[in-house]
Amino acid sequence: MPGFDVTVSEEEVLVPGLRVLVTGATGLLGRAVYKEFQNNGWLVIGIGYRRARPRLLRCDLTDEDALRGILHEYKPDVIVHCAAERRPDVVERHTEAAINLNVHTTSTLAKEAAACGAFLLYISSDYVFDGRNPPYGEDDSPHPLNVYGRSKLEGERETLRHCPGAVVLRVPVLYGEVESVTESAVTSLWLKVQDVSESWTLDHCQQRFPTDTRDVAAVCRTLCERVRQDPSICGIFHFSANEQMTKYEMAVAIAEAFNLPSNHLIPLTEQPAAAAALRPINSRLNCSRLELLNLSIATRPFASAIVDCLWPFTDDKRWRQTAPQRRLVAKESGGFSQRQLPQTPQKKKDRARAQCALVAQKKKMAAPVDLELKKAFSELQVKMIDTQQKAKLADLQIDQLTRLHKHAKLTHAEIASLPDNTRLYEGVGRMFILQSKEEINNQLTDKQKTADEKIKELEQKKLYLERSVKDAEDNIREMLLSRRAH
Ligand SMILES: NC(=O)c1ccc[n+]([C@@H]2O[C@H](COP(=O)([O-])OP(=O)(O)OC[C@H]3O[C@@H](n4cnc5c(N)ncnc54)[C@H](OP(=O)(O)O)[C@@H]3O)[C@@H](O)[C@H]2O)c1
Repeated sequence: MPGFDVTVSEEEVLVPGLRVLVTGATGLLGRAVYKEFQNNGWLVIGIGYRRARPRLLRCDLTDEDALRGILHEYKPDVIVHCAAERRPDVVERHTEAAINLNVHTTSTLAKEAAACGAFLLYISSDYVFDGRNPPYGEDDSPHPLNVYGRSKLEGERETLRHCPGAVVLRVPVLYGEVESVTESAVTSLWLKVQDVSESWTLDHCQQRFPTDTRDVAAVCRTLCERVRQDPSICGIFHFSANEQMTKYEMAVAIAEAFNLPSNHLIPLTEQPAAAAALRPINSRLNCSRLELLNLSIATRPFASAIVDCLWPFTDDKRWRQTAPQRRLVAKESGGFSQRQLPQTPQKKKDRARAQCALVAQKKKMAAPVDLELKKAFSELQVKMIDTQQKAKLADLQIDQLTRLHKHAKLTHAEIASLPDNTRLYEGVGRMFILQSKEEINNQLTDKQKTADEKIKELEQKKLYLERSVKDAEDNIREMLLSRRAH
């Protein structure tokens, strides 16, 4: 057949079970989706293009005949459409090619899926929203800020127009197992985290909800399986992790997860001017439709999931191990890497305190214990370290918000003494805009209010985290006591 190579083995074709066709199976999300379905008894037909490897079909999806040929030959029960051009700046520069893939190919796929009775799951993005009024529900009106967002929205519309039984799943920024760290906007932060030779400024304006591709893949499979039982499920769904972070916060969390310094990372609180495409400031997704149908899952914590993705890129050999091995090594070394780099005095103190606590626990564990107890102990310990890191991150956020609040209050006090009809220049990114005193006053009051609310929210989160650490400590103590009593 022209346009693609077929390399699915006979043995696979004979495997009983449902057939799913995954487009973009060589991409960040597609690889996870492929694995998830394969590990759960589905027969998976994966399509890649430039990176197609053996066991995957190579097909340029913009070649309509080739695409139709594949559908007719493999007759999938389900299609998960992940292929897209998803780099907003590339879409801005190569608009025609991107629209061709993101919109026209989607349209062809939707028509063909409807014709052959396959269920279509179209992966979309939170970039269909402008980010001005989060959180966004499934029925909220989209208003994309860039061509990429518009192309994904057009793809959604083509999907539902030609294939009304389809599902559109919107997701936020993704990270996962990567072939190179630059493959995801999240893992690419590793380059700056590791380079302590200079200071790096990182965006601290745009709020993101980094989501692990393994979690998205699990939701895709659960959704497809549920639709098989209940074909009335269709339309738009949202799925997102709920840890809110700027790029700066993600980078700090990555540094902490690998016990690396973060004082060379500088938060940039102005909107970046360099990017070709505008990005939404906060396009948080409300995922209530999935939750109502009991189709959502508990998402992985960023601090541990990011280690799973980045450890192959570290030169510290102790991270180059499976997750259980890593936990064991971390436990045995008191939870810390030997590769200690310059730290702030506070950080040093925190680490020393935590290290002492872990060493004390380790001593207590010296008594012979059975394997099961050891496993439970190390799992609890990893959870505790995770939680402690999150509590520290909350502290950092509270500190920054308090500074923002103080700044807003000072400016507020300064302009309160000016006559009412005074007009002032307000710095917006690299521009200055003439505003009335009243407008600036209102904006400052809003800023203070938002900062207050966020501080309150973070303090509650921190309290909860501290309580979980205490519970974990109590559990460890109980485990040891009951063991000794036997
Ligand atoms: N990554 C994110 O942060 C993110 C966030 C929100 C939504 N999404 C959405 O999630 C979906 C998956 O994104 P991703 O991050 O996995 O993208 P990705 O890593 O860039 O992968 C894109 C995939 O599309 C394939 N592809 C590109 N051009 C093709 C063509 N002409 N014919 C056939 N296949 C072609 C690529 O194949 P080859 O590489 O083999 O050429 C690759 O498998 C997309 O719909 C995207 O809009 C992603």
